[in-house]
Formats: sequence, C-alpha cells, structure tokens
Amino acid sequence: MSDDVLAIENLSAAIRNGPTLLHEISLRLAAGEVHGLVGTSGAGKSMIGRCVLGILPAPVRVTAGGIRFLGKQLVGLSERDRRAAGASLALIPQDPLSALNPSRRIVSQMTDVMRLRLHLSHAEAYARALAMLDEVHIRGPQDVLRRYPHELSGGMRQRVLIATAFACEPRLIVADEPTTALDVTVQKQILRLIRELQRKHGTSVLFVTHDLGVVAKICNSVTVLNAGRIVEQAPVADIFLRPQDAYTQALFAATPRYDRPGDTLRPLPADFA
Ligand SMILES: Nc1ncnc2c1ncn2[C@@H]1O[C@H](COP(=O)(O)OP(=O)(O)O)[C@@H](O)[C@H]1O
Ligand SMILES: [Mg+2]
Repeated sequence: MSDDVLAIENLSAAIRNGPTLLHEISLRLAAGEVHGLVGTSGAGKSMIGRCVLGILPAPVRVTAGGIRFLGKQLVGLSERDRRAAGASLALIPQDPLSALNPSRRIVSQMTDVMRLRLHLSHAEAYARALAMLDEVHIRGPQDVLRRYPHELSGGMRQRVLIATAFACEPRLIVADEPTTALDVTVQKQILRLIRELQRKHGTSVLFVTHDLGVVAKICNSVTVLNAGRIVEQAPVADIFLRPQDAYTQALFAATPRYDRPGDTLRPLPADFA
C-alpha cells in the first residue's frame, strides 16, 4: 500500500566482518497503527528500531534491503538528508533516566529539541513544553520544568520523554520497551498514556516489547522475531487466537494469562532461547 507510513523491505544488517543480526526483515505500518515487535532478548527488536531511527551502533551496518518512510528511502541517504527525513521520527526509550542529561533541567532538555526540530523561539518552545506536560497529565508543569531528572520519579521522567516525543508531531514513534524499567502500576499508566496520545495525534508506533500482554493491550498487528528472523507476522487478534509458529506458541506458553490462572507456565525451550 502506498499510504504506508513505514515500509521495511527485506532489511538485513550485520556486524562488520561479523555475524548477520537481521535477516530480510519486512514489515509495513499504516498511519495511526501500532505494530508490535516481540521476541526474547537478543532477537533483534531494538536493532530494527535503530535501523529505522538511523542510530545503529558503530560496528553494525545495513547490508541489504530498504526502509521507506513517508515514501522516502532512508537507506543510503547522506547524513544531512537522513536528519531531515528523521524530523518526523521520535523515540521513547527503555530507560528514561539514561536518556536524560543528569546535569540539565527538564526545561532546557525539552525546549532544545523543539527549537531544533520545530524552529520555535525560546518563548514558543517554553509554552509548547508546558502544553505537552499538560497532555501527559503532569500536575504543576512549571515546577517540573525547573527540576533536574534525578528529582523526578521514573514514571514522571518517562512522561517527560513521551511529552518530548509527541511535541515535535512525529508521524512515527519507535517505543523501545518504554515500560520495562518502571514499577508494575506505573507501567499500566504509561501504556495507557502512550495509547491515548497515539490515538489523539494519529501517530504510528513501532512498539518493541518482550511482553505479549503489552502487545494485546496496545498493538494492532505484530511481528514475532527469533534470532534476527521473522517467525510470524499477523494482526494481533489472529496471533492470540491462532499462533501459527512453534516459537510463537512457546512464547505464549511462557506468558502468564490472567484469564487462565490455573495454567502452568512453561519456560521457553533452550533451543529457542
Ligand atoms: N552495540 C552493539 N554492537 C554489536 N552488536 C550488538 C549491539 N547491540 C546489540 N547487538 C547484537 O544484536 C543482536 C540483537 O540485539 P537487540 O536488537 O538489542 O535485541 P533485543 O532488542 O531483541 O533484545 C544481539 O545479538 C546483540 O548481541
Ligand atoms: Mg532491546
């Protein structure tokens, strides 16, 4: 479909003179859709997100395939063109603390991004930061803007980063395990918040998670990965009703089901891990 926001086509990536990390990954993401990337640790979920964002670790290279974002091919672009195309992309990271600079107040970290991306004046950026903190339901936003990252709770820091991500009106957000570092009760609130803003702004989201429960709550469709390869790709309802692949079935068997409290959990077999 030509109106896809993101189309990853047969994408492969490898460590230079080393192993292949991603094998011919293809996936499509329509406007306003949330697509889950699931799999155990090391499956290549974050690496796909990094390919899309153009922030691969130094030794890793895209070796084949492409990434079309809003109709534009990102693979092979010059640094400058890549940055321009990336203005409509944003990241919600796994660890909000390490994503923030510990020695700078929240206000400058939020307004810097907006001034750079949206070319706002200082006053405009400040007003937008306030409005965005309101959107993520932070009370006393003026006070929060004056704080340093260590003065906020983990959940508050993640709200700040979500506000910053949505502030630049991206068409696509990569959310890389955005709730993993948080307490369980806060995880639910943050998940609900991302869903709320994603719907309100019509933003597409590539949602990286190892948690199938999270997929059920937020994703429209899902790609299951194992060792850098796609093992299954389907609308969420289909995956939950009829997992086709043995690996997906094993992932389900290792996931607690609230609706089946009597079930015995089966750890992932060693040959899958
Ligand atoms: N900075 C890096 N340099 C080289 N290889 C890496 C780096 N980060 C991750 N990898 C490798 O890439 C593969 C996929 O990792 P990753 O995408 O982080 O997995 P996931 O997010 O699914 O847990 C793993 O084999 C991992 O060891
Ligand atoms: Mg990861």
